[in-house]
Amino acid sequence: MRILSGIQPTGRFHWGNYFGAIRQYIALQNGKESAFYFIANLHALTTIRDKKQLEQNTLDAALDLLALGLDPNQATLFVQSDVPEISELCWILMTTTPMGLLEKCHAYKDKKAKGLTAHAGLFTYPVLMAADILLYDSNLVPVGEDQDQHIEVCRDIAGAFNHTYGETFVLPKAHIVQDAAKVPGLDGGGKMSKSYNNTVEVFESLNVQKKKIMGITTDSRPMEEPKDPVGDHLFALYSLFASAEQTAMLADTYRRGNFGYGNVKKELVVLAEQFFAEARSRREELSAKPDEVRAVLATGAATARKKADEVLQRVKNACGL
Ligand code: ADP
Ligand code: TRP
Repeated sequence: MRILSGIQPTGRFHWGNYFGAIRQYIALQNGKESAFYFIANLHALTTIRDKKQLEQNTLDAALDLLALGLDPNQATLFVQSDVPEISELCWILMTTTPMGLLEKCHAYKDKKAKGLTAHAGLFTYPVLMAADILLYDSNLVPVGEDQDQHIEVCRDIAGAFNHTYGETFVLPKAHIVQDAAKVPGLDGGGKMSKSYNNTVEVFESLNVQKKKIMGITTDSRPMEEPKDPVGDHLFALYSLFASAEQTAMLADTYRRGNFGYGNVKKELVVLAEQFFAEARSRREELSAKPDEVRAVLATGAATARKKADEVLQRVKNACGL
C-alpha cells in the first residue's frame, strides 16, 4: 500500500492545511517505502515568480512538516523537482488526456470565469498532479476536500492511458477525513485559505495568533440567546483543538445561551498554543540545522527516484518509447 501526498510551498502552513492534510500525512506514515510526501515546488511555479522566495518557502515547508511530526524514518520526504522523471511522465500523460477533462477543473474554470488570462501551467496543473500520483504506484492520497476533484481527474487520466495501452497504472483513491475536510476561515465565510486572507498560520508568533483569534467574525445576537453550534465557525475551530468533553461542554453552552464569544475565543487562544507547543519548539531546533534538513530531502529524493524509474520504464514500454 503506497500513501502519497504533495503540498505546495506557496506560503506558511495554516490550520486548514494542518487539520485537512498534514495531520493525515503523519497519522498514515508507516515506513519509508510506504509513505511518500513531497513539496510541490513545480506546482508552486504557477504562482510564485521570485527565485529567493520559492527557495525559502521550500525549505520552510520541509522544516514545518518535520516539526509537525513527519518522521524521515517512517516516511520519504522529498522535493518534487528533485525527481525529474515527473516532467517526462507529465508529458506522456498529456498526450492521452482529453482537453474537456481539464476544462472543467475548478482552478482553471474560476480564473476564466473572472475573465483573467490563464497560462498553460494552470490549465495542465491537474496532469502534473496526476503524474505525481501515478509515478509511484500510489494507492491512497490524503488531502482536504478541495483536492477531491483532482484525484478524480487523476483516475480518469490513468484510465484513459490504461484503455489505450493496456493496464499500466494503479488507480488511486483520495483519503479525506470528514471532521476536518473543510476547516472554516476566521471570517466564517468559507474555507480557510491563504487566497482568502482568513488564516491562522501554525507557526506564526503567538501575539499575532492571539490578535487573529480574538478578531474571528461573530454575529451580534444578544448574549442570552441560545445558539446552534452546528455550522458555527468559531465552534468548529474550537473543536479542532478541544477534547471531546470540552467540545460537548461548549455545545451545551451554545444551546443554553448566555455566554460571550470573547470567552470562547480566549479559550481557543490557550488551546491552540498548547496544541502546537511541542512542534513550535521542535521547529526552533530544526531551523538551526538547515543542512540536516537538506540531507533528509536528498535521501528522500533518492528513494523516490528508484520507484519513479521503475514505473517510468513500464510506461515507456507500454507506449513505444
Ligand atoms: P490554500 O487554500 O491555503 O492555498 P492549499 O491549496 O495549498 O491551501 O492546500 C494544501 C492542502 O491543505 C491540501 O491538501 C488541501 O486540501 C488542504 N487544505 C487547505 N485548506 C484547507 C481547509 N480550509 N480545510 C481542510 N483542508 C484544507
Ligand atoms: N494540488 C495540491 C494542493 O494544492 C498539491 C499537490 C500536487 C498534490 N501534487 C499532488 C496533492 C499529488 C496530492 C497528490 O494542495
